[in-house]
Amino acid sequence: MALLEVKDLAIAVAINGRLVPVVRGISFEVEAGTTLGIVGESGCGKSLTSLAIMGLLEGSQVRITSGSIVFDGQDLLALPPERRRAVMGADMAMIFQEPMTSLNPVYRVGDQITESILQHRRISRAQARERAIELLRLVRIPDPEGRIDSFPHQLSGGMRQRVMIAMALACDPKLLIADEPTTALDVTVQARILDLMKELQAETGMAIMLISHDLGVIAETCDTVAVMYWGKIIETAPAAELFADMAHPYTRGLLASIPVTDREVDRLEAIPSRVPLIGETVTGCAFHPRCGRARPVCADIDPAAIAVSPSHSARCHFPGEDSA
Ligand SMILES: Nc1ncnc2c1ncn2[C@@H]1O[C@H](COP(=O)(O)OP(=O)(O)O)[C@@H](O)[C@H]1O
Ligand code: SF4
Ligand SMILES: [Mg+2]
Repeated sequence: MALLEVKDLAIAVAINGRLVPVVRGISFEVEAGTTLGIVGESGCGKSLTSLAIMGLLEGSQVRITSGSIVFDGQDLLALPPERRRAVMGADMAMIFQEPMTSLNPVYRVGDQITESILQHRRISRAQARERAIELLRLVRIPDPEGRIDSFPHQLSGGMRQRVMIAMALACDPKLLIADEPTTALDVTVQARILDLMKELQAETGMAIMLISHDLGVIAETCDTVAVMYWGKIIETAPAAELFADMAHPYTRGLLASIPVTDREVDRLEAIPSRVPLIGETVTGCAFHPRCGRARPVCADIDPAAIAVSPSHSARCHFPGEDSA
């Protein structure tokens, strides 16, 4: 059994009293000690998926409408809320794109790490501070005894993301969910943070779910890849297989859109037009208005997942054919 098994997960957003689907029945697994990459353009439902797994949707206008999330053998959505929070708080941790939204600017980073250790362990404050220094050393922050008393604004973006990783490691997670963890960083720092995550994985054995809009980041880091479009997984395969043979035209478009510099890209230059808006009605394959491979059937029938190989599937009527 995989560490995390997500099955037919659907999530909807309440807009004017109506539930509008945003994640439309996705299934994937993360094996212990491995990295799953989830990639897709902004708005396709990546963050909502990770927040659902972390149990962070409660109290918002976002609802899980169906599906199951089984983590370490426990069906999280079937647990009473308190038990669920206990599992989620103990064995999963999440880091986000912008550490400044998670770090409190008025507290020293050491105090913030110490607090998160004290939430997970019954040890003294002095011992927790020692552990905080150890964690800063683990995430390769130079002079951790000195830096522990810094305020977040005194650290660079890369150092702040390292602090966030240290806080995430405070609970010895079995699963680390990293939602666009390097998007705000320049390419060199980005590469160092990705390397650090891989090294920490080798040291701790944790599994990672890495979310990114950048297929380049995913290529460097992941064992398995799931490509999302408009709330669905439209292609999934082991990374080596996917990069050797992309079956879905959207995945190929993402590859062609990998930025060659560290400039921000808000639009995929290789794929025309845009993702349908939430609530917009789309018939057939949701990608058909943008697809160079589309034929008449594509506008009428939503393709089911087709097995390209035993471990590789794509939701396309014409997988692997050359795009026009
Ligand atoms: N709290 C919310 N209220 C309303 N709509 C939301 C909320 N959160 C996300 N959405 C919408 O749901 C869709 C998926 O969002 P998200 O999971 O953040 O996408 P991604 O992380 O892939 O960019 C987007 O269209 C977004 O606008
Ligand atoms: S089903 Fe048709 S429109 Fe959709 S990706 Fe495949 S070829 Fe393109
Ligand atoms: Mg997001």
